[in-house]
Order: sequence, then C-alpha cells, then structure tokens
Amino acid sequence: MKATSHHIRFILDNQWVELDFQQSENIRPSTTLLNYLRCLPSHKGVKEGCAEGDCGACTVVVAELNTNNELEYKALDSCLVFLPMIHGKQIITIENLEQHIGKEIQLHPVQQLMVENNGSQCGYCTPGIVMSLFALYKNHHKPEKEVIEDALTGNLCRCTGYKPIIEAAKHACIHQGKDHFSEKQQEIKQQLLNIKKDNTSILLYHSEQLYMLPQNLNDALKLKKQYPNAVLIAGATDTALRQTKKGEIIPQIIDLSQVEELKNIEITDKSVIIGSSLPLEKLKSGIEKSFPALFNILKVFGSLQIRNIATMGGNIGSASPIGDTLPFLFACKAVIKLQSFDTKRKIPIEDFIIGYRKTAIKTDELIVAIEIPFIPENVILKSYKVSNRKDLDISTVSVCFRLQLSNDKKVKEIIIVYGGMAVQTLRAKKTEAFLNGKTWNKQIVETAMEILYNEFTPISDARSDKEYRKLACRNLLMKFWDETK
Ligand SMILES: Cc1cc2nc3c(=O)[nH]c(=O)nc-3n(C[C@H](O)[C@H](O)[C@H](O)COP(=O)(O)OP(=O)(O)OC[C@H]3O[C@@H](n4cnc5c(N)ncnc54)[C@H](O)[C@@H]3O)c2cc1C
Ligand code: FES
Ligand code: FES
Repeated sequence: MKATSHHIRFILDNQWVELDFQQSENIRPSTTLLNYLRCLPSHKGVKEGCAEGDCGACTVVVAELNTNNELEYKALDSCLVFLPMIHGKQIITIENLEQHIGKEIQLHPVQQLMVENNGSQCGYCTPGIVMSLFALYKNHHKPEKEVIEDALTGNLCRCTGYKPIIEAAKHACIHQGKDHFSEKQQEIKQQLLNIKKDNTSILLYHSEQLYMLPQNLNDALKLKKQYPNAVLIAGATDTALRQTKKGEIIPQIIDLSQVEELKNIEITDKSVIIGSSLPLEKLKSGIEKSFPALFNILKVFGSLQIRNIATMGGNIGSASPIGDTLPFLFACKAVIKLQSFDTKRKIPIEDFIIGYRKTAIKTDELIVAIEIPFIPENVILKSYKVSNRKDLDISTVSVCFRLQLSNDKKVKEIIIVYGGMAVQTLRAKKTEAFLNGKTWNKQIVETAMEILYNEFTPISDARSDKEYRKLACRNLLMKFWDETK
C-alpha cells in the first residue's frame, strides 16, 4: 500500500466533517450513522425504530458521485451504515430539507405536500418517510404509482395509512427534482471529486477495532492477506446486525464498499460478470431483459434502502439458506470468481456453498465477481419467492426452475433449486432425476410433486412450520408447470 490515511471525511450541513477515531474513545469506526447523528444536538430528527433495517424511521439520504461523476441521491437505513461507509459522501437529514429565507422558513416541496395531504399523525415515522420521498423527488419526475410504492416499501407507518403519503409523493414529484440542493450541486460535486481523486486507502485504528477502508482492489487483497481473520463487508446489511442486535464488537473489518473495481458489470458474448460489491438496486436496473428471473427476485428483495447498499457478493458470502439470489445462481450454473493477493480461481456456486452459512472461501480470498452464463433461448428459467408478506420480508421458501424441453415435449434438462428447505440452498436432485427424459405433462408433474414433497426435511421456525414449507415446495412445481405448459 503506497500511503494510508487515518481519518474519514464527509459533508454534513454543507460543511466538511473529519473524524479521526484514534482521537476518540467514544466512537469506534463501526459506530452506525444513526447513532452518530443522534448524538449531535442538531440531528435528532433521525429516529431509531428497529435498528435492523425494517422500519425506515432512520432513513437519511446520501449524495454520492456515480461512475460519470454525477451526484446520485440514495435513501439508506442509517441504522445499518457504519460511519466509514459515508467517507467522501454528502449526508442529508430531515433537518437539511427546509430553507431559511430571512426569518421565514420555507419547507421543501416534499415536506409541504406531506403537510397539505395530512401525511403525518404521531410523526415518529415521518422524518424517515420524508427522506424517502426526498430521494424519490431527486430521482423521478412524475413517478408511476409502482415507483412511489417501491420508494416507500422500507418505511413503516403505523397510524397515518399510506394513501395521503402516496398523494403527497405524487404531487411533490412533478418539479423535476429542482430545489435548493440543485443550486449547491456543482459546489458539492467539486468537493466530493477532490476527495475521490485522493485514492488513498484508509486504516482507522481504535482501541477496540481496526477498520480498513481500501480504495482499490490491490490494497483490499493485501489487507486480507495481512489480516486473514478480518471480517469482510460490502453493504453490511447482514453484518451490521451482529453489532446492532447482538452487541458484538467486530475487532477487524475490511470494508469493500469503496473498491470501484468490485462494482463493475461486464457483458461478454457468453455471460454477464457482476462485481461482488455492485449494489443490488444498480444490478436490478440493468437486468430486466437479460435475466427476468433475477429481476423478479430483486423486485421483492428487502426495500429500496436495503438494495441501495446490499450486494450479491454479500448474499453469497452469507450463504444463508434463504439468500434470495442463490437458487437463481445455482440454476444458471453461475461461477464465483475468487481472488487472493497471490492467486485467482473460479468455482461453481454449487461447490462454493458448503453448509449452513458456510462457503469454500479461503481466509485470504475475496469474492471479486459472479459470472452468470446467458441462458439459451430454448431454456425456461423462473424464480418464485413465498414469504409472509410480499414486500420487505425474507423468504419462507424460494425456488428457481430451469427447464429445457425437446421438440416432442420431453424434459431434456431440469434443474430445481430451493431455498428455505434445508440448512443450505439445495437442488431437488431426486425429483430432477425422475423428470429427466419424461414427457412434460400434468400427470408426470403430479407424480414428481409427491417425490418433491418427500425430498426435503425442512424445519419449523417463526416464519412457518415444516408442513407448510413441504406443501409450498411441492405446489410451486405445479405453478411452474402451469406457467410453462
Ligand atoms: C431489512 C432487511 C431485509 C433483507 N431482505 C432480504 C431479502 O429479501 N432477501 C435476501 O436474500 N436477503 C435479505 N436481507 C439480507 C441481506 O440484505 C442480503 O444477504 C444482502 O445481499 C447482503 O449483502 P451485503 O453486501 O449487505 O452483505 P454484508 O453484510 O456486507 O456481508 C455479508 C456476508 O458476506 C461476506 N462478504 C461480503 N462481501 C464479500 C466478498 N466480496 N468476498 C467474500 N465475502 C464477502 C461478509 O463477510 C459477510 O459474511 C435483508 C436484510 C435486511 C437487514
Ligand atoms: S431503525 Fe428501523 S430501519 Fe433503521
Ligand atoms: S405517523 Fe405515526 S407511525 Fe407514521
């Protein structure tokens, strides 16, 4: 590593803030943005509801430079954001939205329209909702209802009801995003560009924690070699809960969220190669036509606040039995690209996931990318997610089917991959073996459903009992047949 820096910098209230954690016993690097803001006298508007990304009361907006060096506004759950993740960005909270003109206070259009549409009652959720609406305002002109609803999926309101809030959004977002932030945009952009040019990796020492924020892949690989026990994070939407819910202090963290090489998306004639740290929302916007089965899963993956930072590398790295991208990746025969400082290797996803939250990664390696071969035209690929509610819920059971039929309607190849049915994502190999070579008709599928029913022994948990899972698993095959007959 050429040089390192020991502090982070970000813009808050239009001013640069510089934090050096060595000088401060009270805040360690992995302090969440929420806790940092709430300790300031002037940012109590940001609220804690759940501290796990479910309620959106803590929503703030981050303005950051995209690959074209334009400012992008993203709503985030500040309860899941570790402070170093905002290095080189502008933080906008509810307190920044109004404007002071002389003695007058002028509300931002999204605030004004929330007032006019009676969009608030007790007000606890309101700052978070307004910040989600602010991000919507900056990114969309006359958004469709579906876009408005998606922007609000990550915000729970227990007393107002969503109709007035959706009305406020509809009427506010007709101003093409122009507001007092637009006037300062060039200045902010220039300031963030100056930080971006300084490509120095950051090591934050604190008595309880070493937090590493590499700015390029080479430094990330060097650090992983030097600190093999360090926990990798990309979006931290899984890892932050170890701290916020379990009170764990992670002694060494390597944060990959600022390594641009890991956010690329490359299309070759045979495959698409997705950088492991590309936020899922960015991925979603580019794959609707090429991979509708993945698009459909990402549409119901967490909330916009979660997808704005969560990554595919993190979904695979967690190796959760209910990781929503995994059945799709198994069915696509995706390959995981791993790299250490000294080596590179590729491993099929099926060999990479080896147990409950266990992968075949070595301690000095990172997942750098995921290579997904394009699906031939005569192959059908479909994903389904069963959850207690449609939005912002994790899967009870998920599945991806891949089917290739011959001209005489015989099964040439079928791959059936389930999440939520075992300790890890698994193929239904007995059912696949039964179906291969058979005619794809209702009678055969009904017989296959009985094999499928007995193929897994799922557990009962808070989300559902095992019998429900077995029935859902079995019936999803009928749904797939019905949609492909
Ligand atoms: C409110 C909420 C809703 C959610 N909804 C869903 C959902 O609908 N579906 C779903 O599947 N998940 C969901 N999740 C879980 C989580 O958001 C996903 O698993 C997400 O993809 C994790 O990505 P991340 O970058 O945030 O992971 P991180 O927390 O940064 O990392 C997760 C794990 O992966 C490892 N890792 C990360 N990057 C790499 C890398 N490059 N190389 C090696 N290891 C790496 C980390 O060490 C860690 O073990 C939800 C989480 C929350 C809080
Ligand atoms: S406090 Fe509930 S999402 Fe952050
Ligand atoms: S206004 Fe009370 S929870 Fe939304």
